[in-house]
Amino acid sequence: MKPSCFAVPVSSVVSTRAFWIPQGLVRCSQHLYTNRAVRFGTFISQRRLLQQTFSTWKCSALSETETSIPSKAPPVQPVVVVTGSSKGIGRAIALEFAKAGCKVVVNYSRSVSAAELVVSEIIETGAESFAIKADVSSTVEVESMFQQVFERYKGIDVLVNNAGVTQDGLSLRMSLEQWKAVIDLNLTGTFLCCQNASKYMLKQRKGRIINMASVVGEIGNAGQVNYAASKAGVIGLTRTLAKEFAPRGVLVNAVAPGFIVSDMTKELDQDKIKQSVPLGRLGTAEEVAGLVAFLALHPSAAYITGHVFNIDGGIAIGSS
Ligand SMILES: NC(=O)c1ccc[n+]([C@@H]2O[C@H](COP(=O)([O-])OP(=O)(O)OC[C@H]3O[C@@H](n4cnc5c(N)ncnc54)[C@H](OP(=O)(O)O)[C@@H]3O)[C@@H](O)[C@H]2O)c1
Repeated sequence: MKPSCFAVPVSSVVSTRAFWIPQGLVRCSQHLYTNRAVRFGTFISQRRLLQQTFSTWKCSALSETETSIPSKAPPVQPVVVVTGSSKGIGRAIALEFAKAGCKVVVNYSRSVSAAELVVSEIIETGAESFAIKADVSSTVEVESMFQQVFERYKGIDVLVNNAGVTQDGLSLRMSLEQWKAVIDLNLTGTFLCCQNASKYMLKQRKGRIINMASVVGEIGNAGQVNYAASKAGVIGLTRTLAKEFAPRGVLVNAVAPGFIVSDMTKELDQDKIKQSVPLGRLGTAEEVAGLVAFLALHPSAAYITGHVFNIDGGIAIGSS
């Protein structure tokens, strides 16, 4: 099947070659004609378009169905919500979005001063930010959080469902409370945030959602039945929402980290972990943030949906 193409106005012409470019890859031309394959005619060179695209990707959350913007429009500053961004991986993701010039909403549930610190670090970069206290496992608090985001920014371009916890124990000894606490936050919380954000994204016909899974959701881990089940659930949720939302140009992907340096892993035996990782070290929050930012903002990621990206030093491939 041929991908859809777009035509550009004659004034932008630098080449007379005809070629195909997937729709949604470029937003910088004055006129985009999506959902229509244009076989012949005069087109701007692919090279020039890609140069334009890559020079602006850091401030452009794109979608398959996005329409034109005037060439003199100010740079778009995508509105991004990162749940659980008061510390650890979420904090690094929030700062990465700030570097890209996004408007970053920092969510937290308990660590108010840490969240405020992240907001001030973001503002220091010149980006816009504010913090919202909301327990993502609470329907009421999640609704209120997105209400505040929509009131302030009239929309949302990117949602990163990062908030997560562990409450480890062997399955035979695990209490129902322990099970529920982790499922409610990691899985139900992700569902609630996706549901609220997608109301806007589907209407806008654009948006990107990145859900934080884990390699243990793919391969399991003794002592983490609740956590592994919640993250496996996040993967199923991601693939399902990707199918539901694709016709409206909303992309849904998951990132599956291995062992990453953060509060979550600081109590673990670091030497033992290193031995279990083919690359022989833990990952950093900044490495995860780079992958998330790519999926959330990069024009080349406009054709990716329903996938899980491991960032685990090779854990998922197993030892040789
Ligand atoms: N670290 C790893 O090795 C690793 C590996 C795979 C996957 N992950 C996943 O990556 C994500 C981040 O992990 P991390 O290591 O950065 O953990 P972390 O350092 O413990 O940070 C967890 C974040 O989640 C927030 N949070 C906790 N409960 C919340 C709630 N009910 N509502 C809203 N926010 C809440 C915390 O904010 P408050 O302090 O304000 O509650 C904090 O900002 C999690 O989903 C985790 O499962 C981590």
